Amino acid sequence: MKGRDAQSNVGTGRVEIFDTTLRDGEQTPGISFTMEQKRTIARQLDKLGVEIIEAGTPITSRDEKEVVRLIGNEGLSAKVCGLARVLTQDIDACIDCGVDMIHIFVPSSQIQREHTTKMSEEEVKEQAYKMTRYVKEHGFLCIFSAMDATRTRMEFLIDLFKTAEEAGADILNVPDTVGVSEPFSVFKLVEAIDRAVNVPISIHCHNDFGLAVANSLAAVKAGASQVQVSVNGIGERAGNADLVETVMSLNSIYGLRTNIKTGYLFETAKLIERFTGIPIPITKPIVGENAFSHESGIHAHGVIEKSDTFEPGIMTPEMVGHRRRIVLGKHTGRHSIEKKLSEIGMFPPKEEVEEILERVKELGASGKKVTDDDLFTIAEVVTGEVSRHERMITLKELSVMTGNNVIPTASLKAVVRGKECISAQMGVGPVDAAIKAVQEIIGDEIGGGIELKEFRIEAITGGSNALAEVIVGVEKDGRRVTARGVRDDIVMASVEAFINAVNRLMQK
Ligand code: KIV
Ligand code: ZN
Repeated sequence: MKGRDAQSNVGTGRVEIFDTTLRDGEQTPGISFTMEQKRTIARQLDKLGVEIIEAGTPITSRDEKEVVRLIGNEGLSAKVCGLARVLTQDIDACIDCGVDMIHIFVPSSQIQREHTTKMSEEEVKEQAYKMTRYVKEHGFLCIFSAMDATRTRMEFLIDLFKTAEEAGADILNVPDTVGVSEPFSVFKLVEAIDRAVNVPISIHCHNDFGLAVANSLAAVKAGASQVQVSVNGIGERAGNADLVETVMSLNSIYGLRTNIKTGYLFETAKLIERFTGIPIPITKPIVGENAFSHESGIHAHGVIEKSDTFEPGIMTPEMVGHRRRIVLGKHTGRHSIEKKLSEIGMFPPKEEVEEILERVKELGASGKKVTDDDLFTIAEVVTGEVSRHERMITLKELSVMTGNNVIPTASLKAVVRGKECISAQMGVGPVDAAIKAVQEIIGDEIGGGIELKEFRIEAITGGSNALAEVIVGVEKDGRRVTARGVRDDIVMASVEAFINAVNRLMQK
């Protein structure tokens, strides 16, 4: 590992991924994972291939200790790590959980020492030495963090890291605790530390200025061989370096290897979105809804011909488990219309395509999202092929029951391919129950396989009697179709959108 020059990581080609979604990530204001969610996340991270899972801070509570212990017993390939202050009781709590690795940290900057621990530099060094020894004497791997390293007096910081090295630390971590660094200063700092010590260096960046990923990459360039990241960048304040962005940049831009099976990145981000309730912004790199979406005529045309024309190429949606989408709107061009129509077997002549295109653009310009169902309806009107669109499923009756003392339940009657079907389902809310009822009916009649991939509710007028617009995307065998439902009743709008989408999906 050592004896390398400052950029030697690029030469060795491998970076270790330390995930702190369950520890720093859970410190995100307002987030609290259940024990079961934590175990699910740990299993997902393991499947993804992260080398180290920081599962929690066992000293904080009995439940935290229990869940770290349970994750340690899952039989994962990843090493399980517990966080501890440089105090024997914290370290003992980690030891009790049977972790593989203990991450100890001590505030090292003047501002944190003076206002939190009230320790002098000498006392910090002494405690760091003793507690690193303590971890090692108990036979555990030890990561040592100098908290607020990037605001710590340089000479002291190097001295502190050398002390931890001397005591046997396996990895030295450089936290940019309040996210005040920028890539050039991180590079210089890590380079200097790397010259002074002989153990692997790890980097832990916060995102206060939106530079956490860039700073982590600069650290790797300077010699760090481990990055501490979290899924969707969750963590204290503005969060940590995002796992997906860091891994894909290392992979595709720097040409470095990680152990991550990138095909699981999208589903991992979606899992954390679901468990945290924090929506992934549509423009988020790599996993956002728009990351591989194209609307404008020139871009969509290029991408339909060859995807690299308007995508990075060194990173494809397939590589990260995401998908490419051609979206309709006021910027749409002829090629997008032709491509989408050809997928349902419609090949209108040029003049009709132009007419359809104009109408799609008009709808988009009016501020509406243009769904596939909108396109197909317009195309049917323009081409006069209305009779082609047979509805596989028609809603007859829907009633829902909800309230503070009942489990939301929906009963539904529908005609599927001429046959009357009924279903009653419970859900987390009335919309969920109603959608499940439709899914059950469809599943029974056509053998399932239709997945709900997109669901957006928007009020299009104000007030408690607002019109609700629901856009739904469904997928079967890799083909996705979007449709809309608009009603003053949100459950009805949802069911209508879902049924419209299914009908279109099944249209041949
Ligand atoms: O941001 C930080 O300094 C931390 C430490 C515990 C590593 O999260
Ligand atoms: Zn942190």
